[in-house]
Amino acid sequence: MAKEVKSVNYGLEKIFEGAQDFLPLLGTDYVELYVGNAKQSAHFYKTAFGFHSLAYAGLETGVKDRVSYVLVQDKIRLVLTTPLNSISPINDHIVKHGDGVKVVALWVEDAKSAYEETTKRGAKSYLEPVVEKDEYGEVVKAGIHTYGETVHMFIERKNYNGTFLPGYEKWESDYNPSSVGLKYIDHMVGNVGWGEMNQWVQWYEDVMGFENFLSFDDKQIHTEYSALMSKVMSNGNGRIKFPINEPAEGKKKSQIEEYLDFYEGPGVQHIAVATDNIISTVSQLRQRGIEFLSTPPEEYYKAVPVRLEEFDHKLREDIEPLKTLGIMIDADEEGYLLQIFTKPVQDRPTLFFEIIQRMGARGFGAGNFKALFESIEREQSNRGTL
Ligand code: FE2
Repeated sequence: MAKEVKSVNYGLEKIFEGAQDFLPLLGTDYVELYVGNAKQSAHFYKTAFGFHSLAYAGLETGVKDRVSYVLVQDKIRLVLTTPLNSISPINDHIVKHGDGVKVVALWVEDAKSAYEETTKRGAKSYLEPVVEKDEYGEVVKAGIHTYGETVHMFIERKNYNGTFLPGYEKWESDYNPSSVGLKYIDHMVGNVGWGEMNQWVQWYEDVMGFENFLSFDDKQIHTEYSALMSKVMSNGNGRIKFPINEPAEGKKKSQIEEYLDFYEGPGVQHIAVATDNIISTVSQLRQRGIEFLSTPPEEYYKAVPVRLEEFDHKLREDIEPLKTLGIMIDADEEGYLLQIFTKPVQDRPTLFFEIIQRMGARGFGAGNFKALFESIEREQSNRGTL
């Protein structure tokens, strides 16, 4: 197994200097999950995560075979979809993977061009460009396959001012729990199979024009028992970041292998959502029943000030609430970041969320990997899958 990995490089601008971006991306448009019961999932994401009702498609809007609830919190849009019969191919996805991310939709200026540029570079087509219209204008959609059964949709909405997409109606609900302060998707991580990471890195480079701007090998990401490797892919303007993980050999089972076993293939491992006030966000999430990985030990928090000093940064938050809430801190040359990880949000140990507050740092918490993975291994051990 290859162990050589490039050194850390945060100089995105340098990498992209002079590069032609054939796939300009404006941001993440939405993330669609296929779930067993969209109505109940929607309630969970509203109640526990502070999302708001945005749009709906189903029997009442003329859709016969599935139902989709669209939720929003600041710039984050989640779509939760369930089939309404046994013949919908959405069932196959749920039978195989359980609840999980099907679509990572990207907001583009020109969906037809995005489709043409990526398919001519080798992307497998999922949906040829289609124009969908309603009284609020038109949207152009197209899609390509990525790892596993996950797809990227390209969404062009410059000529549209409806609530979400044609085919959806505004969803007015009397039940509106308050937001917890989640702002936007910071990054989304994919888990791929043994030895497949570099192939997907190459795919994001060749097909999507992304660059590999950070790499971690299994010497950096390991505990006494298990290991993984990760490379972070970013698009030209840095708005879209997709780290890609693969399992690595260790004394016991890698958490990535556990994911692959239970998801029955590659897929989205976690969605990292940003907040401006992680103490407030995590306090509310905990009150609303969201479970997080266990809190790092006392020694971890003793080491934090030293780690920040190494980089000449000063922690602006009180360390006590961070400690109480189990929030982790990492630093690099440019600043620091605060982060915490939920337990899986469905019964299979697959998809989970990360809450992140960036205080200048552009990394992914490499300094926390050891503490984090030890905590995941405690969970794996409880599940009998370590
Ligand atoms: Fe992450």
